[in-house]
Amino acid sequence: MGYMDHHQLNFMKKSLIILAAFGFILVSCGGNENAEPATTAHAGKENYDKQCARCHGSNGKMGLSGAKDLTDSKLTPAEMIPIITNGSSGGIMPAYKDVLSESQIAEVADYIEKHIKN
Ligand code: HEC
Repeated sequence: MGYMDHHQLNFMKKSLIILAAFGFILVSCGGNENAEPATTAHAGKENYDKQCARCHGSNGKMGLSGAKDLTDSKLTPAEMIPIITNGSSGGIMPAYKDVLSESQIAEVADYIEKHIKN
């Protein structure tokens, strides 16, 4: 084995070590990203606070202009979705079908179920 061959072999070993280290860093960053959803707020919270809290209150209890106390609601998320989509029969609560997407409405209903209701 000549001097150049030996030198090239060393160079390759170093390159592999650097590549391996870089790969490890990438994998570590990916791990952090995977852990994120557990620490972020519920997907429906932002829209609830923006669209619903002015009548229902951020805790669901405010009851402005006769709004139902959502902490006390007997409705399931599946039953809430048409009310949120089309508004209330009394006509006081607005329809949200042109404001929020179907999946955003489902997220808000899930937020009420898990974080507002007692
Ligand atoms: C302008 C005030 C107002 C806003 C804004 C509003 N609501 Fe309402 N909500 C009401 C009123 C008033 C009622 C009671 C029904 C009625 O009399 O019209 C009601 C009823 C409900 C009910 C039925 C509860 C039950 O147990 O019968 C749900 C669920 C609900 N609202 C969810 C929401 C969500 C989710 C939002 C936001 C996307 C929202 N509301 C925004 C006023 C409002």
